[in-house]
Amino acid sequence: MLLMGIETSCDETATAVVSSDRQILANVIHSQLEEHRPFGGVVPEIAARSHLQNLTGIIRSALEEAQIGFEDLSGVAATGGPGLIGGVMVGVMAAKSISLVHGIPFIAIHHMEAHALTPRLTDAIEFPYLALLASGGHCQFVVAEGPGRHHVLGSTIDDAIGEAFDKTAVLLGLEYPGGPAIEASAKRGDATAYKLPRPMVGRDNCDFSFSGLKTAVRKLVGSVNDEIEDKIVVSNIAASFQHAVAEIVADRTQYAIKQFKAKYPTGTSLVAAGGVAANLLIRSTLDNAAQAANLNFVAPPIPLCTDNGAMIAWAGLEHLRTGHQSPLEFAPRPRWPLDELAATGQG
Ligand code: KG4
Ligand code: ZN
Repeated sequence: MLLMGIETSCDETATAVVSSDRQILANVIHSQLEEHRPFGGVVPEIAARSHLQNLTGIIRSALEEAQIGFEDLSGVAATGGPGLIGGVMVGVMAAKSISLVHGIPFIAIHHMEAHALTPRLTDAIEFPYLALLASGGHCQFVVAEGPGRHHVLGSTIDDAIGEAFDKTAVLLGLEYPGGPAIEASAKRGDATAYKLPRPMVGRDNCDFSFSGLKTAVRKLVGSVNDEIEDKIVVSNIAASFQHAVAEIVADRTQYAIKQFKAKYPTGTSLVAAGGVAANLLIRSTLDNAAQAANLNFVAPPIPLCTDNGAMIAWAGLEHLRTGHQSPLEFAPRPRWPLDELAATGQG
């Protein structure tokens, strides 16, 4: 069975073709990075127009790369939310049209569920498993119980983890997107150079908070004044920030694992998903936490951590195999709590 997946919820226009035996036949991504870079962040209007302009060509390229035609597809999935509404509408409408013309099922996919299910595509892991979903808009611990069935254990009470990277990068005058820029700069820095706070550490739950850390970085940048022009000062702050985030993640993961093991004694894996899972320090932090608790640690290869069409196609396959599909009346959802999936009929 072959499925097409379309992702347009942020600044990547992506289409992939994936088979039910976990082969990625095509995975085409157009990044809008250069279009948004002058603005230091994603501009929703520019994103929507760019998706509209590029998506059809990308769909054609994906079919060519997979060496198939629409008639070979068993269904078409698209991100139905959460995300920037203009872009989501472009992807959903394209998928609905393909579904209508070719008489194949359409499946609207929750973007974060697709991140969470990716380790089943790459590593065939079994439900239930504990996932840290860490992206520009999300930061939560979720137990994946099955397609459409996810139990949220804890979330951020303010900024998402990727947002913290992105905002800190702006304070440091680093390039957009901030996560990779901070990781690169931190390589040359001393992580013990500055002492930064670790909000929530030690609390008996698995929620996150990053706003205090961001404020501390802002004050620190103010206090070093002219020195911020110095690349070493920037690298030292970037390294100290990244180290603080890693320690927060280590602590919160311990609590999440405790809850996961208590509720799901058969679970054996900790998974990292979302763009921040591309960060090597965060990956090794999670790997250590998993090892200490006798869990397997699974993180998709980096290009499958950031936004892509393969994760959407795979999530579509998971739903289709369980008999789920979406009505053509499906309305894109800019906000869509992950644990509401089953209740809204998407699960
Ligand atoms: O999942 P994703 O590609 O898009 C969203 O759904 O948000 O995640 C993007 C986020 C951005 O905040 C970006 O700065 C962050 O992931 N990110 C990273 C790294 N690569 C991407 N954060 C830290 N280190 C990285 N290497
Ligand atoms: Zn994402």
